[in-house]
Amino acid sequence: MAHIVVNTKKSKGTINKNIYGHFSEHLGRCIYEGLFVKEEDGIPNVNGMRTDVVEALKKIKVPVLRWPGGCFGDTYHWMDGIGPAENRKKIVNTNWGGVTEDNSFGTHEFLELCRQIGCEPYFSGNVGTGSVQELSDWIEYCNMGGISPMADLRRANGQDAPWNVKYWGIGNETWGCGGNMTPEFYSDVCKQYSSFMRNYDSEHPIYKVAVGPNGNDYNWTRVVAEKAGNMVDAFSLHYYTVTGPDWNHKNSATEFSKSDYFETIAKTLYIGELMDVHSSILKQYSKPDHQLKLIVDEWGNWFAVEPGTNPGFLYQQNTVRDAIVAGLNLNMFNDRCDMVVMANIAQMINVLQSVILTEGPRMVLTPTYHVYDMFKGHMDARQVESYAEAEDLKDGDHTIPSLSVSASEKDGKLTITIVNTDPEKSADLDVIIGGCKIAGATAQTLSGALSAHNTFDAADNVCPEDLAVTVAESGDSVKVSVPAASVTLITADEN
Ligand code: AHR
Repeated sequence: MAHIVVNTKKSKGTINKNIYGHFSEHLGRCIYEGLFVKEEDGIPNVNGMRTDVVEALKKIKVPVLRWPGGCFGDTYHWMDGIGPAENRKKIVNTNWGGVTEDNSFGTHEFLELCRQIGCEPYFSGNVGTGSVQELSDWIEYCNMGGISPMADLRRANGQDAPWNVKYWGIGNETWGCGGNMTPEFYSDVCKQYSSFMRNYDSEHPIYKVAVGPNGNDYNWTRVVAEKAGNMVDAFSLHYYTVTGPDWNHKNSATEFSKSDYFETIAKTLYIGELMDVHSSILKQYSKPDHQLKLIVDEWGNWFAVEPGTNPGFLYQQNTVRDAIVAGLNLNMFNDRCDMVVMANIAQMINVLQSVILTEGPRMVLTPTYHVYDMFKGHMDARQVESYAEAEDLKDGDHTIPSLSVSASEKDGKLTITIVNTDPEKSADLDVIIGGCKIAGATAQTLSGALSAHNTFDAADNVCPEDLAVTVAESGDSVKVSVPAASVTLITADEN
C-alpha cells in the first residue's frame, strides 16, 4: 500500500487564491463567442456577457483574470476599445488568424465581465508597440478618482468611480512576440515604463509584473532582476507543456499513445524545477523589505488544433490527461505558495487548455474545469506539508512519480488533493495525518480513460464522482483507493 503523509504542523504559508487564476486573450473564440456575445447571437447574456459561462465561472470562484493578451496585448491600443462601440476602430488581429478585431470588447466590457464573475482584473500593458504615455494613461483612466484628463474621459464614457485595477503587466513575452528584446534592453524599458505607472490611491497601490523568463532562460531572470527588480513586484513565468516532434507538429489533444502521455507528464513536472530555480534567483536579488515573487501567468497543455478548425484559433479538446496535468500543476503551485502568488491557466475558454468550451449557444465543462472545482478549498487556505511515498513509473526515457499531493487547512477543514498518474493501476492509499485528528472525511474523484472527454452531446462523460473513504478510529489516518489516471479530493473535518 502506498502512503501519503500530511503534517499540519509544517507550513510554507497561505496559498494565494490567485494561483487559481485564468487568462483570456483576444484569440480565436475566447473573448468573442466564448465570453462576450452580441444581441443578434440570441444567447442569454447580461450586458453582453454569456450568462451560462459567467455562472459556471462563479461556481469555481475565479479569483483573477489576465487580459487582453498574450501576444495580442503588445499590439493592443486600449483607446481603440473605449467610447461608443459603433465608433471603435476595426483592426487586424495580426497574431491570431488575421481576423478583424472590432474592439467591441474593451476596457469597460472587460471590467464588467470581472464584476459579474467576481474576480480581480489583471491587465497586460502594451510595451511592444505601445508607449510609456499610453500605459500611464490607461492606469490613470482606470484608477484616478479625482479630476484629470483620463478620469474625465472615463466619466464621459459612463464610469464614474475608478476601478482601482491592481495588477499591471509591463509587456508580454518581450523576449519573443512582445519585441524580441534582450534582457538588458528590456530591463531599461521596464524601468522606464515602471517610472510612469502611478498610484492614484494610497489604499489601492498597483502591483507591477515584469516580463519574466521563457521556460529555463535563467539568464533573463538574473539580468532583469538585477537591473530592474527594485522597480517591480513580481516576475511572470510562461511555461507550456508541448509534446510532439516539433512546434509545427504537436501531438493531438485526444489521440495519443502511452509514450506521448508519459512525455506530457514528464514535461509538465519540469515546471517544478523551473519555479525553484527562478525563485532562488529572485530571492538573491530581493531586499528584506522587497521580496520579488513569481507569477506563472501562462501555463497549460498546448496540443495540435482540433482538425478542421482555424489553425490561428488554438482550439483543442480537453481530456482526462488534461485534468491530470491541471492537478499536477496546481499541486506544485500550492506547494510553492511562499514564492508563487498567482498563476493563470491558458486560456479560460475555447483556447488551449480551457475550462469551458462553447459551440453557438451550447457550453461544455471540461475535465480541467472539474479539477478547478475540486481544488477550490485550497484558495487562501494555509498550505501544510504533504508528500507521497510511492513507486515511480517508467516508460522509455521517462520516469514519473505515480502520485502527487498537496494539502491545506482552513476553517477546521483539511483539503487534500491527490493525482494518480498511473494510467493502468488504481492505488490503495493510507493517508497518515499528523498534527491534528480527523473526525470525518468525504472524497471525490475524477477519472476515466486518458483520452476520455466531454462533448456537446455527452457533456457529463467525465465528471467527479463520490469515492468511499474510511477514517481510522484514532482519527490520524484515512484510507482511500484512488482509480487509475485520476484526480482525487479528500475533505476532512478536523476534530
Ligand atoms: O496563449 C497563447 C500565446 O502563448 C500567448 O499569446 C503568448 O503570450 C504565448 O506565447
